[in-house]
Amino acid sequence: MCGIIGYIGNREKKEILLDGLKELEYRGYDSAGISILSNNELFTFKTTGKLINLETKCKDFTSNGFGIAIGHTRWATHGKATEINAHPHSSEESSIVHNGIIENYLEIKNELENKGWTFLSQTDTEVIVHLFEENLKSVENPLSAFKKTIDRLNGSYAILLITKKAPDRIFYAKNGSPLLIGINGDEVFFASSSTPLIGLVKEVCYLEDGDNGYINKDNFKTLKNVQPMNGEKISSQKDGYRYFMEKEIYEQHRILQDTIRGRILNDGISLELPSNFIDNINRITICACGTSYHAGLSAKYLFEREAKIKTNVIIASEFRYSNPIMEKDELFIVISQSGETADTLEALKLANKNNLKTLAICNVENSSIVREAKYSLLTRAGIEKGVASTKAFSSQVMLLWILGIYIAQNKNNISKDSIQKQIKNMYNSLKATKVNTKIHDRLKKLSKRYLHGHGFFFIGRDVFYPLALEGALKLKEISYLHAEGYPGGEMKHGPIALADSELFCVSLMPKHLLYEKIKNNTEELSTRDATICVISQECSDVADDVVLIDKYESYMEEFFAMMIVVQILALEIAIRLGNDVDMPRNLAKSVTVE
Ligand code: AGP
Repeated sequence: MCGIIGYIGNREKKEILLDGLKELEYRGYDSAGISILSNNELFTFKTTGKLINLETKCKDFTSNGFGIAIGHTRWATHGKATEINAHPHSSEESSIVHNGIIENYLEIKNELENKGWTFLSQTDTEVIVHLFEENLKSVENPLSAFKKTIDRLNGSYAILLITKKAPDRIFYAKNGSPLLIGINGDEVFFASSSTPLIGLVKEVCYLEDGDNGYINKDNFKTLKNVQPMNGEKISSQKDGYRYFMEKEIYEQHRILQDTIRGRILNDGISLELPSNFIDNINRITICACGTSYHAGLSAKYLFEREAKIKTNVIIASEFRYSNPIMEKDELFIVISQSGETADTLEALKLANKNNLKTLAICNVENSSIVREAKYSLLTRAGIEKGVASTKAFSSQVMLLWILGIYIAQNKNNISKDSIQKQIKNMYNSLKATKVNTKIHDRLKKLSKRYLHGHGFFFIGRDVFYPLALEGALKLKEISYLHAEGYPGGEMKHGPIALADSELFCVSLMPKHLLYEKIKNNTEELSTRDATICVISQECSDVADDVVLIDKYESYMEEFFAMMIVVQILALEIAIRLGNDVDMPRNLAKSVTVE
């Protein structure tokens, strides 16, 4: 989704902006631009498409000496992905970049048009820069004009503004969209996430909602809540893999070791939570979006089966406006890879407002969601670059499973023997995520038979139902083929009407959970001539194709082994179709608008 970079200092500003924007590239965007104010001249360059286009456009431009600069990658919300709609947006003497959505922009636009302002773009953002210049006419200084402008905005925003009226400073405002200020000596950086700042700055300040003002070389020392910048520069190398997604699939067995480190002990489960964490908790609500929602759905089965605690799972965008009933004895869990998903963050804020005990399961330390939640557990998957989530999902499921056993243990709902059995299954599940290259080769060959047809159904039962949803989501995200996940038993209640030889059905058939039931459901589809691809450790005579996984002793091991298969199947189909696997069309890695 949209990304922001800002810089105050003496270095070559174009390079700083382009390097920063490259670090944000994996998040998804459709156009980009930069504005540099140096020697009282304002230069703006914008292009559609990839950053290489922007680099080419400004290749002959240099800016020596002190200056201020802002850059942006845009993921279109208001107005198509055109050069004119790309940020920065400029008025006569100022330029602005913005993440988020200004909800009352049409009202402001009408007012400004009546006062003679002309708009070039269809964006909500352009109103901010013209409103700022309009306000400059009636107030004594740029800061007051900026504050007056911000006061007028409804919606979510992270904003940077530069103006010839104050060429030594960057004005900023944050509400609902992340924005950070990084400091290195007397240089100041801004970014919409920490990734571009790692390695560049020594200290960072995570701005809070409602923060606004300006920063220049003199006042940044007065910033509050400055903390050391942690984190290592992420590897931008694919390490021989064709795509980051492929690398991340192969990494899973290694990162899961980090997920469980210090949490699975010889005599039970230990988590970084207070010992009375689960006291007075009698029910759980899990709230998330997309893949994280699927991880939450798997957790429902595990929590209810193992910890015997009632669990409700809801999509965050549905939760917010449904007047949800929140009970005092409820634990509210949000799950998010990025920690910045707007719908999930807002749901969490609502739960906090209602004084619920809130827990974030998240992959990004210091993200908005981690900072908002009362408690948090990190999944430790390392930065995920592929837009289609893989290792984030496996680490979420593993951590939620651990949490389920932790709850069972602390509520005395589980015997010592059962804890030991679960721990053994966890270790074995971790091993099950190591990619078997023979299975990968088989999927590579098989993928050519699944490039057409009128749709895919992934079916599974119990925890394999959320895995079916996740398999279908992976496939549609990167192959652009229509795919749905369904509970196996639900097909005959409607969807089976679609069955014919051009309907592909990927059936998840675990030996250790409801095998006969899902086999019957698969047979019902086979009888109606659907093309069946079974994933199982057992051979199957109802299948057109069988992807045999290794032999496992528990259903969760089968879950993780099948997860690898559905991820690779989607990857290989998308590669054969010639798609950009890491940056699929229309998608953003971190969805910071609702
Ligand atoms: C997964 O492949 C997706 N790209 C998407 O569904 C994602 O899981 C969702 O947007 C939630 O993101 P989060 O985990 O960062 O909150």
